[in-house]
Amino acid sequence: MTTSLEPDYLDRNVLTDLAGGKAIPINGTAVFQWDYDRRNEKMLRLYVQGKQRQWDMDDKLDWDHQGDPDDPLGLPEDFISIAGSKLWDRLPEEERRVIRRHTSGWLYSQFLHSEQFALIGVGKICQAVSDLDSKMYAATQLMDEARHVEGFNRFISTRIGLRYGLSPSLNSMFEHAMREPRWDFGVLAAHILVENMGLATFGVHRERLQDPLARSFSAFVARDESRHVAFGRLLLRQYYPQLSEAELREREDFVVEGCWALRDRYVDDEIWERLGYGEEAVKASRRSPAKREFRRLVFMRIVPGLKEIGLFGPRVQAALASMGVLGFQDVDEAALRALDDQAAVDAMAARELDDRRRDIADTISLGRTAAAEN
Ligand SMILES: [Fe+2]
Ligand SMILES: [Fe+2]
Repeated sequence: MTTSLEPDYLDRNVLTDLAGGKAIPINGTAVFQWDYDRRNEKMLRLYVQGKQRQWDMDDKLDWDHQGDPDDPLGLPEDFISIAGSKLWDRLPEEERRVIRRHTSGWLYSQFLHSEQFALIGVGKICQAVSDLDSKMYAATQLMDEARHVEGFNRFISTRIGLRYGLSPSLNSMFEHAMREPRWDFGVLAAHILVENMGLATFGVHRERLQDPLARSFSAFVARDESRHVAFGRLLLRQYYPQLSEAELREREDFVVEGCWALRDRYVDDEIWERLGYGEEAVKASRRSPAKREFRRLVFMRIVPGLKEIGLFGPRVQAALASMGVLGFQDVDEAALRALDDQAAVDAMAARELDDRRRDIADTISLGRTAAAEN
């Protein structure tokens, strides 16, 4: 089995861009709120937290760190969806290196485009929700999402060198949510499905990626996402009691469809098409036990979220049970949220310690130079 080792890909100074762009009509309503004194206390607390926890990746992350050019994220082998298959076993190391890079590019491209979806989606939420505290909180999340786009794009353009398009399964969910005039569908897609999936994924990445920069970045992003998810849940908990049974059923249909898309159709076929490995790789990727387990784990935060916002009727529960993920309804979320916070605090402390060590080393070396000159 051979594959085309693309010359543009091999030159790491050239970004291979497979993404493209598109325009979707946004339907909806802009709500102005003239009552500046009406407070939404819980939302206000989130807004304050959103303001106080802004961070700048130029300061908080060590971009001088030189990763492995052949494996910029330090992917554990089970992150490669065909690892462990007969196909993988017979590939030479040179081709495995190409696959690692393509897997990193595909994965980070999905995050990058999802972050842009969140950026645009939160703008739509800011425009459509009626209370001012929710609009102001949304403004803090807009900045968070811009920062996430910045970070993923920076990894892709300076380290991975390969940008893929958005997976068809995410694409159809995002388009549906954007075209939908009812604003809460955007919250369901972005906050309840995609961000909860992201949160579960970043939780794994901050523990298991071998590149320290990618690990720290994952920890910072996870803490922001934890806050975003809390916002989406609060917003819908406050809004859904106003809807009729029939209206809630439509939301349930949307999330069930979205869950199936994440469970069965969020797959990396584009890599195998691009590299020319064909059906054998696609089948190996679909069969991968590690990937199957991973696609189950992404529901760890989605399922409690659906329960909390009240979209947890018999049809939703039946769908989650047939996906084998209904048990996540009992996950200890408070403990997971504490972990999201602590991991970011630890990453920040490690960065400050590194800075201090560097300062001390610089001071010592300056002292030595001065002594030698005297
Ligand atoms: Fe984000
Ligand atoms: Fe987010």
